[in-house]
Amino acid sequence: MQAKNRYAGLDIGSHKICCAVGTVGPEGELVLSGMAEAPSDGVKGGIIVNMHKASTQVAEVLKRVEGDCGFKTGPLHVAITGDHIRGLNSRGAISISMIENEITEEEIERVVELAKNVRIPEDQERLHVMPQHYAVDDQGGICDPIGMSGERLEVEVHIVTASMTAAGDLLECVKQAGSDVREIVNSPIAASEVLLTPEEKRNGSVMIDIGAGTVDVVLHYEDTVWHTASIPLGGRNVTSDIAYGLRLPMDAAEELKICQGSAVISRVDPKEKLTLPDLGEFYQRRISRTVLAAIIEPRVEEIFQMIKKQLVNTPVFDRIDAGIILTGGGACLTDIECLAERIFGLKARLATPRISEDEFCFSNPYGAAVATGLVKYGFMQRSPYRVQPGVFGRMARGFEKAVSAILNI
Ligand SMILES: Nc1ncnc2c1ncn2[C@@H]1O[C@H](COP(=O)(O)OP(=O)(O)OP(=O)(O)O)[C@@H](O)[C@H]1O
Ligand SMILES: [Mg+2]
Repeated sequence: MQAKNRYAGLDIGSHKICCAVGTVGPEGELVLSGMAEAPSDGVKGGIIVNMHKASTQVAEVLKRVEGDCGFKTGPLHVAITGDHIRGLNSRGAISISMIENEITEEEIERVVELAKNVRIPEDQERLHVMPQHYAVDDQGGICDPIGMSGERLEVEVHIVTASMTAAGDLLECVKQAGSDVREIVNSPIAASEVLLTPEEKRNGSVMIDIGAGTVDVVLHYEDTVWHTASIPLGGRNVTSDIAYGLRLPMDAAEELKICQGSAVISRVDPKEKLTLPDLGEFYQRRISRTVLAAIIEPRVEEIFQMIKKQLVNTPVFDRIDAGIILTGGGACLTDIECLAERIFGLKARLATPRISEDEFCFSNPYGAAVATGLVKYGFMQRSPYRVQPGVFGRMARGFEKAVSAILNI
C-alpha cells in the first residue's frame, strides 16, 4: 500500500496516549485499520513535562499500532491542547480592483491575510485560521464569494493560536519516539470531525472533550468554528476532590468515581449506601452515595460554568440549536448529560467517534475521538479523492514553518 494512502493520528493525552491509523479503501473511502493506546507518562494538562517518559510511551504506542495494522504509520497528525491554546475572532476588509471586480482566490487570500493580522501573545503562533463568512459590498453571510462581483470584500475569521514551545516539545517527543510529524492540529477541531453530524455543525453545537487534565471546547455554527478553548481542569480534579474529601488514596478514589459516582446529587437515592475501600482501619466506612455525588457535582458544575461564561460572550451562543456533545473519558461519569443540560439550558448527548458507516470496535470509545478525528482530518485535507478541503482548508502553514524554524528542521 502506498504511504500517501495512509493517515495516522496521535493524541498525547494526560491520561493515555492513543494512535489511530486509517487507510483509503478501493472506493476512495476512509477505513480505520488500527488503533492502540498506552498509559501516558510525563504529560500534564496537555503539556510535555518529562520528554524521556513521554517519548518512551509514544514509541510504545507506535509499536503497538504498527503491530496492529501490519505496516509503518508514516508521518503523524499530532493533536495539541493545553492552557496555552487561545481562540479569537477577527475581521478584515479589502477593496476590489475597479477593472476586474470579480472575486478570485487571490482576493480571498489577501483578505484572510489581513484578518489574520491581529496581535497575539509572545511565543504564540497562529495554528488555524478559519473563515467564518464573507460580505461583498452590503451582502453578508456568504460562504464562498469566488466569482462574485463587488467593490469591497470583508471576512470574519476564527483564529486558534498555540505556544511554540509546547508545539516544539510535541515535535521533539515524536522525533525521539522515532517518527515524524506531518501536521499539528488543535485537539477539539480534530475530534469534532468524527463526533458531530453535519446538522450539528450547521445548526450550532458545542463539543466538550473532558480529559484527565484538560477540557477542550469548540463551538460550531453554520459549518464553521466560532469559539475554541482549553481549560486546565478535568477528570483528575474530580478524583483528587474525592480522595481529599473521603481521605482515600487516588487509585481508590478513581475506582469509586467510576463505579459509584454521579454528577447529579438529586439523581441518587439518599438511602443507597456504599462501602469505602478497606484501608486497614478498625471498621470499614459506609457512606451514602449522595455524599460522593455531593463531592463530584460542584467540580463538574465549576467546569461547565467556566465554559458557559466563555460561550455567552460569543456572538452566536443564543443561536445554538443542536446542543452539547460530550466526549473524553471524563464524560463517562454517570448523569453528566443531565448536569450539562441544566447548566447550559441545551440538550446534551454523549458521543463516540464514527469514521465510516462500519462500527470500529474501540476499547475506550470516549477517549478515542481525538486520534480518530486526526485521521479523518488528515484524509480531508490531503486526500486526492476529496477536492473540497472544507472550512479548515487554509491554515497552519505559517505555524509549521515557524515551529520548524525554531527546531532547525
Ligand atoms: N466511567 C468513568 N466515569 C468517570 N470518569 C471516567 C470514567 N472513565 C474514565 N474516566 C476519567 O477520564 C479521564 C481520562 O480521560 P481521557 O482518556 O479522555 O484523558 P486524556 O485524553 O488522556 O487526557 P487530556 O485530554 O486531559 O490530556 C480520567 O480522569 C478518568 O478518571
Ligand atoms: Mg484528551
